[in-house]
Amino acid sequence: LNVLSVASEMYPLIKTGGLGDVVGSLPGALRPYGIKTHTLLPGYPSVMEALEERRVIKNFENVLGYSVTLWEGVTKDRALFVIDVPALYNRAGNPYGSPTGQDWPDNGIRYAVLARIGAFIAQGDLEHWQPAVVQTHDWHSALVAAYLHYDGVKAAPVSHVIHNLAFQGIFPCNKLEEFGLPAHAFALEGLEYHGQISFLKGALLFANRLTAVSPTYAEEIQTLEHGMGFDGLLRARSMVLNGILNGLDLSEWDPMTDSAVTFPYTVGDNVGRRANKRVLQAEFGLPQKADTFLLGLVSRLTTQKGVDILAEIVPRLFEWNMQLIVVGVGDREIMRSLAELQSRYPHHLACHLSYSEVLGHKMHSAVDASLIPSRFEPCGLTQLHALRYGSVPIAARVGGLSDTIVDANSAAIAEGVANGILFSPTNSETLLAAIRRAYALFQQKSVWARLQRNGALHDVSWEGKAAGYAQLFRELAGYLPSHHN
Ligand code: ADP
Ligand code: GLC
Repeated sequence: LNVLSVASEMYPLIKTGGLGDVVGSLPGALRPYGIKTHTLLPGYPSVMEALEERRVIKNFENVLGYSVTLWEGVTKDRALFVIDVPALYNRAGNPYGSPTGQDWPDNGIRYAVLARIGAFIAQGDLEHWQPAVVQTHDWHSALVAAYLHYDGVKAAPVSHVIHNLAFQGIFPCNKLEEFGLPAHAFALEGLEYHGQISFLKGALLFANRLTAVSPTYAEEIQTLEHGMGFDGLLRARSMVLNGILNGLDLSEWDPMTDSAVTFPYTVGDNVGRRANKRVLQAEFGLPQKADTFLLGLVSRLTTQKGVDILAEIVPRLFEWNMQLIVVGVGDREIMRSLAELQSRYPHHLACHLSYSEVLGHKMHSAVDASLIPSRFEPCGLTQLHALRYGSVPIAARVGGLSDTIVDANSAAIAEGVANGILFSPTNSETLLAAIRRAYALFQQKSVWARLQRNGALHDVSWEGKAAGYAQLFRELAGYLPSHHN
């Protein structure tokens, strides 16, 4: 069964967060189920460069005003279609904005063209390859379902993944025509959203199926608190909405074979982890103390991730003599406050304020605990990395974090099922209390070792989850191609 996955990022070619990881690893996880995925990506420089065995499969003369060359090729075992429009995509670095952090002003048309091509392929425009199902991801490709709806011609059904409802693809309504959408799309039962248009709404309204990236997030987004303005619409579509957790590619995430890990180990082997901790402390210029509680944070630095809350309480942690290493990039204000804290507490806090895939791996092989104080978290991959590598997650009880972490309360410890620390609601006091609770457990060596072991035994693979997608695609492929259910 052929699936076309349409996305704005895909690890290892281009990635800003978990969306890229999932788009990159899900196709391999689906292969054993007989699902063959082609991923349609914009031709950013890193994508064009990585494309092997490439050939032009179609030229479109005029797609929303642009002449498009569509390439087919492969990279690291993944089949790709790539949209080559240098004027739109030939920009290095972060796909969404300039090096100074400004969104590209033409993001609307950049991702409208991506979705328009996705919709053409769904309608059978490629003679040699046709999808049985189209999978779209977040707002960047959400217009696929809208184009298919307004075109009203026969096409493959659409399954849309909600990775993060906070990003809604909002643009002025006078751009409808530029995006190739009919005037009547500007309606409550269309793309209209508080006087503007939302790309995301196109998928929430018109996709045949919606999957959120965790069961809890699928529930949360139907509430006022987490629905980000779409809770009513999502409640109305609850019959086609479910949650499927993300998984990890275990060949990328194995502390025994991971090249980013200084001393390879299996969880339970404290010698390896302890050596990694010493190396990381040295690398970051922190005192090399084995008994000091070393906390880590690998994250986009945004308010979603609660990093501002963490920054508030950091001095308190250092009164307790803990150490903290931060690997992250994002909000300028948060980065400035972290840099300032680092200069005040150089023996306790060290930061790497940019993106580093190697450090993203290495951190979990060395820190004692990984902090994830998110205000909301659709799924979260970092807690899965932490569990797999024997770093105990200390996380907010939201979204996918609550679906994957079992809090170390006394009952769960007694039962031997705990694998981390959860707190709620997300604020500085609850975070501080959670870290304190974790520290007390850290000092009880056998309890801590059990948390680590349970974490390593937790199934963070794609296996069961990919089966969920495979079943969904089969159901959809058997559908009559209507976009109105
Ligand atoms: P989100 O997608 O909301 O950012 P996830 O937890 O799903 O959150 O995924 C984040 C991904 O990005 C993980 O693979 C994490 O390791 C990675 N990541 C985030 N920030 C950095 C960074 N500064 N350097 C390296 N990897 C990072
Ligand atoms: C989003 C979410 C994150 C999720 C990722 C992959 O970026 O913020 O929680 O893990 O998508 O689905």
